[in-house]
Amino acid sequence: MHTGFGGGMHVVTRYEDLVTVAAHPKIFSSAMPGLTTVPVALPPIDVDPPLHHDFRAFLNGPFAKPALQRYEPVVRQLADDLIDRFAERGEVEFVSEFAIPFTAGALAKIVLDDDNEERLARAVDAVTQVSVQNTPESFAAVAGLAAELMAERAAAPRDDLLQSIVDATVEGGRPLTMEERLGVVTVLLLGGLDTTRGALAYIAEYLTAVPGLEERLREPDWATRDLDEILRYTSTVSVMGRVVAEDNNLLGVPLVKGDRIAVHWRSANRDTVRFDNPEHLDFDRNHNPHLAFGIGIHRCVGRHFARMQLDIGITRLLDRLTGFRLAPGTEIERSVGISVGAPRELHLTFDSVTR
Ligand code: HEM
Repeated sequence: MHTGFGGGMHVVTRYEDLVTVAAHPKIFSSAMPGLTTVPVALPPIDVDPPLHHDFRAFLNGPFAKPALQRYEPVVRQLADDLIDRFAERGEVEFVSEFAIPFTAGALAKIVLDDDNEERLARAVDAVTQVSVQNTPESFAAVAGLAAELMAERAAAPRDDLLQSIVDATVEGGRPLTMEERLGVVTVLLLGGLDTTRGALAYIAEYLTAVPGLEERLREPDWATRDLDEILRYTSTVSVMGRVVAEDNNLLGVPLVKGDRIAVHWRSANRDTVRFDNPEHLDFDRNHNPHLAFGIGIHRCVGRHFARMQLDIGITRLLDRLTGFRLAPGTEIERSVGISVGAPRELHLTFDSVTR
């Protein structure tokens, strides 16, 4: 399919075609991963092989499941502190009172991990501002803090993500430039905020709309069993961009160097060739090879962290609250942009506090 959007681009919607695009990262370059231009470099998302590998080499470890485990208690505490603020009230605006501060707080903790409580609080504020406003000023505040913290790591090493960025070398041994370091911090925020927040907001909406879902997600192993289907269905990174680097016919149409491509993850996750009844949230699928986190070398580096947040966030909410309903008269406003369609505001009521 071809669209006139952004000066014209091909839109790849079939599951198998997305797999093909992902399997040829040198031909389908990520040099312009957004559908519109971003003025700063954002490695690894806008980097092609072989350099891409060097960036993932130092990011994969800090985002692997074992490294994330130590953050579980602090993420759980974060969820509980936020729930404390509205639990007695019986109603909440879920996005601004839970989804945003929870995902921003968790991301600030893992990316800018700081023992200085006052500065961590500033980091959470700065990251929340990025999440709410997405302005150059809000990014500058985070970049300033990150630069300060990285300078400290250089003097007194620690075992965390920022340290990995400070110690990393690419291209056979050179350290990252300051621009590259800040680009990595920025892409983690860009990748981590709207996406996880959108998924949380969708789940909260479905709790009010899908009969029996609340009971189902209250089961202790809900995330192992049901989270993939929710991720497939919501696909909060709906679409990303590629640029054709070599003339080719890999997708059955002639593509010419310089052509822009939109890779539509959400469409692939609704492809009837791959999924029976894709328009339904169906927890009985035996096999769910969804592409919500992408596929190939750019597969989401934060996927285990996103799962951890969604698991802990929903588990704590449902351990403590019950009977989620839309507040009377609520019309759900929806996001535009990367996680298009996710509730932007969600006024909920709930019946009782069970703890
Ligand atoms: C439900 C939540 C999330 C979804 C649905 C999601 C989805 C995706 C998708 C589809 C890609 C592939 C992009 C491409 O191929 O062009 C991706 C890449 C990426 N994501 Fe996520 N993501 C989520 C959460 C996160 C979090 C929490 C972080 C940060 C901690 C993160 C950081 C990144 C980064 C840095 C990349 C680029 C990886 C690379 O180019 O090698 N994401 N994500």
